[in-house]
Amino acid sequence: MQFLHVFGSQPRNLTGTMRQPVLALIAALDNQRLIGARGELPWHLPEDLKLFRQLTVGNTVVMGRKTFDALGSPLPGRHNIVLSRTLDDRPEVTLCRTFSQALAASRQIGRPVFFIGGASVYRKALEIVDEMHISWIAGDHRGDTWFPEVDFSHWRVVEERDFEGFRYVRYRRKP
Ligand SMILES: NC(=O)c1ccc[n+]([C@@H]2O[C@H](COP(=O)([O-])OP(=O)(O)OC[C@H]3O[C@@H](n4cnc5c(N)ncnc54)[C@H](OP(=O)(O)O)[C@@H]3O)[C@@H](O)[C@H]2O)c1
Repeated sequence: MQFLHVFGSQPRNLTGTMRQPVLALIAALDNQRLIGARGELPWHLPEDLKLFRQLTVGNTVVMGRKTFDALGSPLPGRHNIVLSRTLDDRPEVTLCRTFSQALAASRQIGRPVFFIGGASVYRKALEIVDEMHISWIAGDHRGDTWFPEVDFSHWRVVEERDFEGFRYVRYRRKP
């Protein structure tokens, strides 16, 4: 599989059993929870894309087919898992037909897992992730795809950073 040579052997804990990788989602949304417009991002924020790269590189990314279409090619330096019932197998990504298949494949890889959208993938990921990396985008935007509703009382803020045009907030699920 692509990038396995970069990752080497899978991490094990002291008892020799497989460690479960951290599961996270990463998304950029405005204050209406908008995430997409006509298959693309509704904004152009290079700093946010840079942050996305820093956080995800070397790890596993799981995405829906439409997000993969929007990217145009696999994200370099990351193990790419694409969810689709319609795409044909292709060597450069791990194609999964169901969410549980994608979860099993990403756990097998053993690296931190980032669910990177779109809306349908976020909806499923919200049920299981330990962390959310959210870029809160400033301003009013137009579009057609929204992040699911989240009850933030179940999440605590563990990191906040201000950037030009957005605020990055990392949330951890409360026990
Ligand atoms: N702001 C952000 O952070 C962010 C992040 C990512 C994406 N986006 C934006 O969001 C939009 C795309 O999101 P979207 O919700 O329309 O599409 P999406 O989630 O990227 O892709 C939906 C497709 O993924 C496949 N899929 C999803 N769940 C599946 C499952 N459980 N099992 C099998 N296949 C599954 C299906 O593909 P098939 O039809 O092939 O079966 C489905 O049609 C774009 O505008 C994109 O730019 C924004």
